[in-house]
Amino acid sequence: MGNPLDDKRIGFIGAGAMAEALAGALVASGFPKDRLAASDPDPARREVFQTSLGISSSEDNNHAVAESDIVVVAVKPDKVRSILTRLKGDPERPLWISIAAGVTLDRLKAALSASARIVRAMPNTPAQVHAGATGFCPSSTAKEADVEAARALFESVGSVWQAPSEDLLDAVTGVSGSGPAYVFVFIEALADAGVRQGLPRGAAHDLACQTVFGAAKLVIESGMHPAQLKDRVASPGGTTIAGLERLEACGLRGAIFSAVEGATNRSRGLRGPDQPGKGPR
Ligand SMILES: NC(=O)c1ccc[n+]([C@@H]2O[C@H](COP(=O)([O-])OP(=O)(O)OC[C@H]3O[C@@H](n4cnc5c(N)ncnc54)[C@H](OP(=O)(O)O)[C@@H]3O)[C@@H](O)[C@H]2O)c1
Repeated sequence: MGNPLDDKRIGFIGAGAMAEALAGALVASGFPKDRLAASDPDPARREVFQTSLGISSSEDNNHAVAESDIVVVAVKPDKVRSILTRLKGDPERPLWISIAAGVTLDRLKAALSASARIVRAMPNTPAQVHAGATGFCPSSTAKEADVEAARALFESVGSVWQAPSEDLLDAVTGVSGSGPAYVFVFIEALADAGVRQGLPRGAAHDLACQTVFGAAKLVIESGMHPAQLKDRVASPGGTTIAGLERLEACGLRGAIFSAVEGATNRSRGLRGPDQPGKGPR
């Protein structure tokens, strides 16, 4: 089977950080720039697309939609409805891929058309370095080819999981959408703790970053369960089990369960209309 994005034209409404990550990854993978387009009211963002990525960009959102086979909706959630309802053209023509947090397929359909083909996705910021994790769910109107095109788009910036039901995207937000922030805090705390024990700041930072990166890489590449890898480095009466004892005493696992529950509930609970401050950012 060929690449599902072959011969496709892709437009981005909103040329912000996430659109740049996706468009940049496509360009880096050899996707022809003349089959990409973007729109954004911010001249600085249009300049990034135009000059750094070589992608045609405009202030007019219809520019990103015209002739595009796939339109990626990459604006803040509170702007989605007003932008989509103002577009010209047939909403049933392109495949719509929305990455707006918390904006449901029903709300997207209401703004476009009941029979529009839509994929709702939740990527994360490591997409910017081609190490993203994306969960997505298609509308019932989306075709198999649409699902494969969306999968190929997000695979260009990392790993992809198709959720069997849309409500699970709230938990995806809680785990991988918000997850990078939890890990950033962990890295910062690990480095601070090293400084507390006498390490120079730069060394503590580098050691902490590489430890998180290396541990994740080892889990992924070994295919082993993290508990097995943990058991291997925790020798009886040794240093690692002494550190783990402190982590358990401080409730690390409970803190993580609670963080994911908080972020998931926030994603679930905020289904407000298109009003500033009413939806997830
Ligand atoms: N970043 C993440 O980690 C992440 C993860 C998953 C999902 N998302 C979702 O991805 C979407 C974009 O996030 P982001 O981080 O890329 O945000 P961002 O950097 O703020 O990008 C959004 C862009 O849309 C532009 N915009 C505003 N009004 C517009 C309009 N009427 N027409 C076209 N473009 C318009 C903004 O311009 P101005 O700045 O001038 O308003 C901005 O450049 C959000 O819905 C977010 O929920 C983000």
